[in-house]
Amino acid sequence: MTLAWADLSGDGPSASPPLFAAALPSIQEWETQEKPALRVAFEKDVYGAMPDGSSTEVLDHRVVDAAAFGGKGVLEEYRIAASATFDGVTRTTKPFYVDVLLPKDAGRPSPVILMETFCPRWDTIPVAGVTRGENAYSCNGDGMMSGVMHYVFGRYIATPPIEMILASGYGVVAIFPGEAVPDSKEDGLKALADLAAGHEDQKTRWGAIGAWGWLFSRVVDVLETDDRVDQAGLITWGHSRYGKAALVAAAWDPRIDAVVAHQSGTGGASLNRHKKGESVGDITREYPHWFSARYAEMAGREEALSVDQHELLALIAPRPVLLGNARRDVWSDPNGAFRAAEAASAAYELYGSKGLDQQRLDKFNPQADLSFWIRPGTHGVVKEDWPAFLEFLDAHFGRGES
Ligand code: GCU
Repeated sequence: MTLAWADLSGDGPSASPPLFAAALPSIQEWETQEKPALRVAFEKDVYGAMPDGSSTEVLDHRVVDAAAFGGKGVLEEYRIAASATFDGVTRTTKPFYVDVLLPKDAGRPSPVILMETFCPRWDTIPVAGVTRGENAYSCNGDGMMSGVMHYVFGRYIATPPIEMILASGYGVVAIFPGEAVPDSKEDGLKALADLAAGHEDQKTRWGAIGAWGWLFSRVVDVLETDDRVDQAGLITWGHSRYGKAALVAAAWDPRIDAVVAHQSGTGGASLNRHKKGESVGDITREYPHWFSARYAEMAGREEALSVDQHELLALIAPRPVLLGNARRDVWSDPNGAFRAAEAASAAYELYGSKGLDQQRLDKFNPQADLSFWIRPGTHGVVKEDWPAFLEFLDAHFGRGES
């Protein structure tokens, strides 16, 4: 399915939904009343309930390579177990690994990009010595599948341009979410049900998108004790399903300072109402483990949802958010994401920021706190994407800034 470029103007089939129905709230009202109420509404209607409490245990921590990438980086690995408490019942994930690559001798704490990825950690940071999972497949193998995958989903689908990222002063944190909460109907639903054993209402039990968002926060628990990490520079990054999770993480966790959500689509940055591309019915049928059962029930009745996705972006304001898109990636509905960003800008304005500062989808403004990037092509992470991501991050966290 393709959508003509002309259809991707800022004026979609309906105007952007207003964020604030009546008078603007004060920042205090917004922070103490409206934001908590919005989170409750998202938990009820979309993502399912988040834990009442959480904790993170480091089981093991070692240096993998003190001079990785030609001496430019220090690579360390953690083995972690994360616990969630629902209604007084605490359950723990199976242990999972996180690889942390920091610029060497940065001379100051480094901002870090926490990445949840489709391909395993050992593809994200391809250094010998990174612990491989039981099922040690690689998206970078010699086989035909690897070639096809890179051809279809782009040069950077498995491995980001690590040297470019390190040279720009950022660390990379590799998380392979399936190690803790599998991305599959059977095993995923089982792991989610087990972690949320104390949550009785099955209709509002959390889905994997919420749990993967929560996972970002558990990794932040570990990074916040590391003084080599800039605690004002914790950036969540995700493509597609993990772009949804990267947004959820920041919307629930104020410690996260910025988000790069690439092609996050339905259940991410794109509006549910009047949507093009993937519908709520499509996504909940194909991925019943991603959201609360109630979101599936609302398919075809999106008007009756108590929230829409511009409110997810609003929960992150005024922190910087980049929404990545592609013209022919109609499934993830760039137009719906643009309209969500337009509407969410009202929350940025409360804090004196402009939010989205572009009239058209193709007028990328990396300086804006809510920025929209669109390029030709389809779904994937391609050559042009990382330079755009870094341009956006440099505008907000670059060496020239403090
Ligand atoms: C499917 C799904 C999307 C998702 C995408 C991805 O296409 O329908 O919602 O974003 O997978 O994660 O690549």
